[in-house]
Amino acid sequence: MWRLFGYGADGTKTAASSSQSDKAPPARSLPSSWYTSTALFELERRAIFSKRWTLLTHSLRFQKAGDYLSFNLANYPIFLVRDRDGRINGFHNICRHRAYPVIEAASGTASILSCKYHNWSYGFKGNLAKAPRFDTVEGFDKSQHGLLPVHVHVDKGGFIWVNLQAGEPDADWKHDFGTLDENENLQSFDYAAEFKYTHTWGMDVEANWKAVVDNYNECYHCPTSHPLIAGVTDIAKYRVEPNAACLEHTIINKVQEQKGQFRRSIIFTFPYVSVTVTDNFFYIQRMVPISATLTKIENETYRHNNATDEAFDAIIQFYKQVLDEDKTLCDEAQKNLNNGIYITGELHPDKEKGPLFIQDTVRRGVMEHRRREEELGAEIWPAVPKPMGEMDTSRLSEEEAFCSKLEAELFAEDTSVALAPKAVALAAVATHERYKTLL
Ligand code: FES
Ligand SMILES: [Fe+2]
Repeated sequence: MWRLFGYGADGTKTAASSSQSDKAPPARSLPSSWYTSTALFELERRAIFSKRWTLLTHSLRFQKAGDYLSFNLANYPIFLVRDRDGRINGFHNICRHRAYPVIEAASGTASILSCKYHNWSYGFKGNLAKAPRFDTVEGFDKSQHGLLPVHVHVDKGGFIWVNLQAGEPDADWKHDFGTLDENENLQSFDYAAEFKYTHTWGMDVEANWKAVVDNYNECYHCPTSHPLIAGVTDIAKYRVEPNAACLEHTIINKVQEQKGQFRRSIIFTFPYVSVTVTDNFFYIQRMVPISATLTKIENETYRHNNATDEAFDAIIQFYKQVLDEDKTLCDEAQKNLNNGIYITGELHPDKEKGPLFIQDTVRRGVMEHRRREEELGAEIWPAVPKPMGEMDTSRLSEEEAFCSKLEAELFAEDTSVALAPKAVALAAVATHERYKTLL
């Protein structure tokens, strides 16, 4: 209960709450502005998506050297590739020459990673192997132009995680996820031996990513919105409990062994990916933030070797229907978050423990990051590597400083008029959009 608003992370009351009564303040949602603001979304990209370990896929997708997968994570394009030693390496999907994406397809097998712009080619460990006609350029040093790596962690179950933070991540995987890969619900299968990847399907949801993961992590809405789930599940016993950076869903079927029913384990991993495991299949659901009001859902689906066609099709249809229903809920609620009337609502401290955990984790993450930025007087972008080697010149510093000064002046001009706080926020968003257009 200490996670409720008005309480600090250590469970102590804040000044605002202690000045009122001893009664615990009600659990309230984050305000709607947090679900619509482009400035806040960009802060989340810096404070959360750039530096949290994020579950992505499974090593079953990497059967041989050269197998690759590409992803767009909150507008950070990356890819994973298996090298000849069997390791899975991750890189920003950005050619070191003139920034074209090295990998264009969502998946495939390569013998070498060739950029289609000027044909620079990289090995599976990210080393620059070939730069056409640069052999005539005196002093050109290939070792200075390797792909920019991202951190990769493969857990005991074969699930693959990435962390985009340049240099050492603030937290190692174990710090955030502890013994998740020993969780008995997740470890009841030998994934590599028992499952095969089949397909990925998805949809765009016109809603903020938090609205989508909030929705995913409570079953308070199941009786009204999901007849299929309500049909098989003892909803009163459905629980969502925080455990480290995860939310564990405990699901009890009405009748465990009745025909048409099935065991389900769901673990959501902050910030936006979950794994659902059943006897017949498992799937990794990525709810990828694209903008303040758009989220892309990608469901990577794996079939159990013993699943019959009938059982596999039935479970796919089950989840397709549930997801269609959730899409409608999120799309329609977001329209009202956008229209400016709704401010905040009271959440059920038990039935909506999942959304409360997510919102509190986001709130603390972005506020702490912003505090550090204000102290520094500049934005902190953890995924951006520091200029290094031959790149790190005084000319680069001068050019960067020139451009940031120009931006700061433009921003100051746009916000110098005395405006109400909300209008200032809107002006800041508009200015931010303008920067993007200018750049
Ligand atoms: S941008 Fe990749 S080779 Fe030029
Ligand atoms: Fe739902």
